[in-house]
Amino acid sequence: MSLQLINGEKLVAATHNAGKAREIEALLGGRFEVISAGSLNLPEPDETEVSFVGNAILKARHAAKASGTVSLADDSGLSIDALNGDPGIFSARWAGPYKDFDRAMEIIHLKLDQAKAENPDAFTPRAYFTCALAVAWPEGHAVVFEGRIYGQIVKPRGDKGFGYDPIFQPDGYDITFAEMTPDAKDAISHRHLAFAQLKTHLF
Ligand code: IMP
Repeated sequence: MSLQLINGEKLVAATHNAGKAREIEALLGGRFEVISAGSLNLPEPDETEVSFVGNAILKARHAAKASGTVSLADDSGLSIDALNGDPGIFSARWAGPYKDFDRAMEIIHLKLDQAKAENPDAFTPRAYFTCALAVAWPEGHAVVFEGRIYGQIVKPRGDKGFGYDPIFQPDGYDITFAEMTPDAKDAISHRHLAFAQLKTHLF
């Protein structure tokens, strides 16, 4: 079988978030008819893997098997060196059921203050965003691509973007993701890097 994506093909986005499905359609350049797993009423699997790549493959395989259609899933998050990689794959869960990212960013800064007080010489504000993108075929084959962007954690600045954008300042910039225009962020982000690899390998 061919591990390629054909223009015009139907693709299931393994998400129950309609906004994310639209974003995926746009990132694929409108070449595919993207249907969300939510609109097909597919059940959401538990994200039981321990890495972004593992969870992306799990979600893509689950949707491909349930729908009988090529499926794409992403898993992303923020990993902070001084917190041993947290929040990592739990990035969404740290914001709680009400998706309170102001609180999640406050908790991160409290934990960083603690880490700095405990070990000032070894302290580093280094962090990175990861996006793992998996494509799975109903027969069970899967491929995965990972994009990362490195930078540092700063006090929250800016009101654009979403999630942890206000506390992430990418290397080479003096503004945070939340201070960038959406186009500027999209041109360098972990998501952009993962989609660029996917396009190179599967188109
Ligand atoms: P997922 O939808 O399960 O992959 O959860 C990803 C979580 O990681 C989101 O809820 C955000 O908290 C965080 N995240 C991922 N990408 C970004 C980004 O580009 N900016 C800010 N936060 C992000």
